[in-house]
Amino acid sequence: MMPLEWESLRKRLGSYRQDHLFQHLQSLSEADQSRLLREIEAIDFDELQRTIQGQGESVDWRALSARAESPQAIRIDQAASVQRVAYEAGERAIRDGKVAMILVAGGQGTRLGFDKPKGMFRIGPVSHRSLFAMHADSLRGAMKKFGVSIPLMIMTSPATDAQTREYFESHHWLGLSKDQVKIFQQGTMPAVDRETGAVLLESPGRIAMSPDGHGGIVKALRLSGILDDCREQGIEYFYYAQVDNPLVVACDPLLIGHHILEGSQMTTQVVQKRFATEKVGNVVSIDGKTQIIEYSDLPEEVAQQTNEDGSLKLWAGNIAVHVMDRAFLDECSRDPESLPFHLAFKAVPYLDSEGQLVRPSTPNAIKLERFVFDLLPRASKAIVVEGDAKDVFAPVKNAEGAASDTPSTSKRAISDRAKRWLAEAGVECSQDCLVEIHPLWAWDADDVKSRLQGSGSIHSDTYFA
Ligand code: UTP
Repeated sequence: MMPLEWESLRKRLGSYRQDHLFQHLQSLSEADQSRLLREIEAIDFDELQRTIQGQGESVDWRALSARAESPQAIRIDQAASVQRVAYEAGERAIRDGKVAMILVAGGQGTRLGFDKPKGMFRIGPVSHRSLFAMHADSLRGAMKKFGVSIPLMIMTSPATDAQTREYFESHHWLGLSKDQVKIFQQGTMPAVDRETGAVLLESPGRIAMSPDGHGGIVKALRLSGILDDCREQGIEYFYYAQVDNPLVVACDPLLIGHHILEGSQMTTQVVQKRFATEKVGNVVSIDGKTQIIEYSDLPEEVAQQTNEDGSLKLWAGNIAVHVMDRAFLDECSRDPESLPFHLAFKAVPYLDSEGQLVRPSTPNAIKLERFVFDLLPRASKAIVVEGDAKDVFAPVKNAEGAASDTPSTSKRAISDRAKRWLAEAGVECSQDCLVEIHPLWAWDADDVKSRLQGSGSIHSDTYFA
């Protein structure tokens, strides 16, 4: 870029009070200068300003929560005949090649404190397979069961992209075929000072950027060309899951089937909350629209409301497993800006005006993220399907030692599900051993039954593979 063009960019930044980004430009090498200028040019300062200024217009969650009802749901105790019909509808769609899986893996995993992409974290209680491998194996299990290849799209971010690609390549695509796996990157947003709105620099030539949230998937699917490719391939449904939940059943036909039979555009798997104020998103219906109220936004007296039988009125907890119509995502992706940004106050290291790196211990910055579940109220119809938390949800969020959602609690849950499947087949396992089942050996409890007829017992760590 020529000095004249610098000058006009500097002026433009000045009108947004962001010209401090030029402060160290002269001291940078030519390559670093052009990288920084590219970063600056990629920022939509109008959108940024609108978003930060909009933070005053907060949502009145109290008023909204007062109107919240339990969502339209397929509960877990549906008649077996209803479940069978749904399973068959889902199975047909999978066998017909209409389903693709999407795994979001762009998060920074700060709470876990693992220095690589979270998907590389080893979680198999006996096998020590990684989270990525657990998902790839679950998908391989589905492909074997339904006799079809299922595309896998993995969303990464600049924080996880290179290592994720390297990992899949060096691990032979984890048993999948290279053509079947598509890795694509989400966008980023700059962190800004929470007082002044100034974009933060993390070094003289680099803006403090972070991934734009899992809701960034809407824009990223379009920009990567995946939506168009999928339409051409005849994909009609996306099965969406997060990399940090190893109990996800890849492309569960039951969930897909309910989605199809109900004519839902976006279906969410939920679990019954264990107690009123549990820290999960509450899936509710407000004025006829399905949406999520974060636990932190739900007033306690609303959370505590019960039905006549004493059960919680707002019972549905979000576990971030969704089935989405490809056409619905396509339509939303034409206007991705309409997903709101959520503001998170975080401690972000930054260069001060003297050029010194400051590492704050309290939140000094605002990070901006979009959430995929904000698509729910945009759907013409969005239903929820209840799953059993023990079978479908054991996320790895926190480092060992935290009260919940740690590697240990997740490993235990993987093992416990395997033990329940074995118990159904008449095999008892002692409490103190860990058990794991590879999805190619058995994809579900019925597969275990057909593998192991009769009784028996297991007393040491065992991996059925
Ligand atoms: P979380 O909100 O739990 O964030 O992401 P995280 O990055 O994994 O962990 P913390 O909050 O920094 O400790 C839930 C899922 O959404 C994905 C994550 O990879 C995870 O699978 N995600 C999150 C993205 O793909 N992109 C994002 O920008 C944020």
